[in-house]
Amino acid sequence: MEAPKNSSGDESENSYADISRSIECKSPAQVVPFPPMSIASHGSTIIRSPSQGLFNESGRSSIEPPSEVAIKLENVHKTYLIGTEGVAALRGVSFIVKKGEFVCILGTSGGGKTTLLNIMGTIDKPTKGHVWIFGSRIKANTRDSFLADLRTKRLAFVFQTFNLIASMTAIENVELPMLLYGKLSPSEIKTRARELLAKVGLEERTDHFPNQLSGGEQQRVTIARALANDPEILLLDEPTGDLDTKNTDIVMKILLDLNREGKTLIMVTHDVSLKSYAHKVVRVMDGKLIRQEEITEEERSSMIERHSEGKAALRTGTNVQLTSDMPRTTYRKPADYPALQPRVS
Ligand SMILES: Nc1ncnc2c1ncn2[C@@H]1O[C@H](COP(=O)(O)OP(=O)(O)OP(=O)(O)O)[C@@H](O)[C@H]1O
Ligand SMILES: [Mg+2]
Repeated sequence: MEAPKNSSGDESENSYADISRSIECKSPAQVVPFPPMSIASHGSTIIRSPSQGLFNESGRSSIEPPSEVAIKLENVHKTYLIGTEGVAALRGVSFIVKKGEFVCILGTSGGGKTTLLNIMGTIDKPTKGHVWIFGSRIKANTRDSFLADLRTKRLAFVFQTFNLIASMTAIENVELPMLLYGKLSPSEIKTRARELLAKVGLEERTDHFPNQLSGGEQQRVTIARALANDPEILLLDEPTGDLDTKNTDIVMKILLDLNREGKTLIMVTHDVSLKSYAHKVVRVMDGKLIRQEEITEEERSSMIERHSEGKAALRTGTNVQLTSDMPRTTYRKPADYPALQPRVS
């Protein structure tokens, strides 16, 4: 039987519903929701095969509901061309983000984290390899309108530099994605924008312009704007990179609450101590995924608690006993930036 196709006839946009229909008429051995991926092994860290759960020991599909998976990458490569030179930003990255997961991407500067996030957010396409988002395979010829729709309704970005529109007030910035979506009436948009600003603690700042807000407040407006169309996945590129300890704490609390409400979060950060907020930590170096670490719920809660205690103590000046297993922050040095190396070495 032929694989089901959508109305445009493009197999790249098959939905999970289409896949489920095909499962009804095929045996498990014939139907593989996603192709299998190889099992990696890296030292003593717990490494989970990205395909675990989807395939049983015989390598056949266990027909786990594919709706569990939000994003799947398989052997993703990205090479940027500068003149005739190729810059290999990603060199064979494979992993899965499950729905509701909080994934933290750590790694060296220039390692490929932003490139990876951009590919997961469909604002960039891989040179080689496969990407699935909510079960739809994203191909080189996937229509821009399909990707734009995905980005308007189901994905949202938060960047380190807040990217707010300077000539618009906080509330107008938050209203913008809803106006573009066109689903709500003007009064519904206004009410929702107010609610979102209240959710991030900025109900008193709705009519301020970005330059009348602190960095932490601007980032909270950005988060409210990202939430405007109720996306399922938030992609965050160093969301606390420009913030001080106190504002980092506020933003991380908001993110944690959003994750608890069911949002899938994928966050790139240089701040190693923030990994305690995630369920899964992925380390990227020289375009490769070098380690994937699962954090148990127990470990996560206790680390978050200790992390908050440490921050509170820093603010009040109380001494906390630093134990060897407590998360520590690492900072980037000028030597970490390839462009600055000639000047600092
Ligand atoms: N548009 C581009 N054109 C050419 N090369 C690029 C482009 N974007 C990224 N690169 C290169 O790809 C590599 C990975 O870049 P990327 O921005 O993904 O790294 P990163 O891990 O996010 O770094 P940082 O931590 O400094 O933000 C780098 O060597 C970078 O110079
Ligand atoms: Mg980056």
